[in-house]
Amino acid sequence: MTRIAALPKVELHLHIEGTLEPELVFELARENGIDLPYRDAEELRARYAFDDLQSFLEIYYENLVVLRGRRDFARLAHAYATRAHAAGVVHAEVFFDPQAHTVRGVTLTEVVDGLMDGFERAHAELGITTGLIACFLRDRPVAEALSTLDELLAVDAPIIGVGLDSAEVGNPASRFTEVFDRASRAGLRLVAHAGEEGGPDSILQALDDLAVERVDHGIRSVDDPRLMSRLADERTPLTICPLSNVHLNAVADIASHPLPELIEAGLHVTINSDDPAYFGGYVDQNYAAIVDAFDLDDQTVARLAHNSVDASFLDTSRQQEIH
Ligand code: ADE
Ligand code: ZN
Repeated sequence: MTRIAALPKVELHLHIEGTLEPELVFELARENGIDLPYRDAEELRARYAFDDLQSFLEIYYENLVVLRGRRDFARLAHAYATRAHAAGVVHAEVFFDPQAHTVRGVTLTEVVDGLMDGFERAHAELGITTGLIACFLRDRPVAEALSTLDELLAVDAPIIGVGLDSAEVGNPASRFTEVFDRASRAGLRLVAHAGEEGGPDSILQALDDLAVERVDHGIRSVDDPRLMSRLADERTPLTICPLSNVHLNAVADIASHPLPELIEAGLHVTINSDDPAYFGGYVDQNYAAIVDAFDLDDQTVARLAHNSVDASFLDTSRQQEIH
């Protein structure tokens, strides 16, 4: 573990809402005068046994009720950055779900300003840097994604890119072409979740219809050798989250994760934690799980950390500095 934490790395697939630990849920509920349907953090944590992505998303969205104002988002961001720093993360490109908050009546400014407060404090204390990526919820209307993007641009939100998340199956990426076009024209970087529960076709849509620069998850590319060759040739990074895939039953167990095949095929693989408060581990624990399952040597582990720096949206001089 020490060896893993000592490797400088970048986290590229992390939902800030997925770092809301049960203890913080209860603390914020108390401060905000919110009654929760659980006795304590332990009882809430006991509910974290998921059948699939959908069953996880229900509780993930439900817990957001405790995030009410700027200070709550600052607490969340600061707690994540502090934990990530301990795992050797020197930079994180962090997802947040604007619509999950605006539909509850929390303003975009409160969310973004709060996250920035927390990250700026962590940067001053620890030197860790962050970039924000606003994800659109693919199971909500395209018109809502478009108006969310327009509002982000209107308030000059300090985001580096946009992504696409939530329920993949039945909500094709191709519906969001106009949103991603508009974001690209505004100078934003593009990523999307694809190939987590959906198949190779979902990944192809993210690549061809949205023109994403990284694929979040992308593990089902293993089902299509031509797609694997294309991803390898184009050096498209995959942001893989091993413990998430196990906890959401995207794979039967860690030993049957396709990670070794993806590495073997020359894909630009990176290791990340997705929603660490729910899936039993931050990024160092995701590295530890795959080292253990696949008996990875030091060189491979160092290569994975190196990949995470190269796959980031940092400029090349900062990338070199981290290497
Ligand atoms: N939102 C938060 N975590 C997610 C995941 N793993 N897949 C899709 N949407 C998400
Ligand atoms: Zn995710």
